[in-house]
Amino acid sequence: MMNISDSLIYRIATTSDCDSLNVLINSSYCGELSHQGWTNADELILPPRTTADTLFSMIDSGNYVFLMFFGEKDQILKGCVHLFHEAGSKIAEIGMLAVRPDLQARGYGKFILSIAENYAVNNWNVEYIELKTFIDRYELTAYYIRRGYIDTGRRHLFPKEKMKLGTTQRDELEVCTMKFPVNLYAELF
Ligand SMILES: CC(C)(COP(=O)(O)OP(=O)(O)OC[C@H]1O[C@@H](n2cnc3c(N)ncnc32)[C@H](O)[C@@H]1OP(=O)(O)O)[C@@H](O)C(=O)NCCC(=O)NCCS
Repeated sequence: MMNISDSLIYRIATTSDCDSLNVLINSSYCGELSHQGWTNADELILPPRTTADTLFSMIDSGNYVFLMFFGEKDQILKGCVHLFHEAGSKIAEIGMLAVRPDLQARGYGKFILSIAENYAVNNWNVEYIELKTFIDRYELTAYYIRRGYIDTGRRHLFPKEKMKLGTTQRDELEVCTMKFPVNLYAELF
């Protein structure tokens, strides 16, 4: 399959980007449109995954950096990811990694993940990247393992109260924390 990741450019989102981020994240995570992609959380959560207000609060707090990825030629929003880092911490957390459902499986996700990892290393000098996935999303966990992530063994229940408008399809959903040891790979290659 052709890898067209190199045609993506990115910038940091501001609070004025919340509406477009909201559409992208919700369409890729759950609901009808998400079925166009190869993996989604549609069987686990009822939409919406997030809201523009939630995204506004996250960006406005200054604790999250959202990276938005656009086609270099067409300038269309194709993917995003956010990073969370606390001053002095050696860990950055990645979340809301999303690629427009009709544009998945072309290498965009891998590209966005690697840019986010590099952003965290270059800006915060972190040693680890962490992310969380639903334990039941085996295909997604396998995807991250192929990217070098390790299952930490840490588990917790998904805090569904954080979803605001959406909800979960089950009473309890277990979340798994995965970890990427940045320096280990830097030393190996
Ligand atoms: C997860 C996500 C960001 C990946 O983006 P993407 O652009 O499709 O990813 P890539 O093109 O880089 O990689 C596609 C991978 O999926 C694999 N894949 C494709 N179809 C698949 C299928 N039906 N089953 C399992 N794996 C499949 C490919 O083999 C490739 O992996 P590999 O390179 O290790 O072989 C995207 O699917 C998405 O936005 N999903 C919805 C939101 C979400 O769940 N985000 C993650 C929350 S933790």
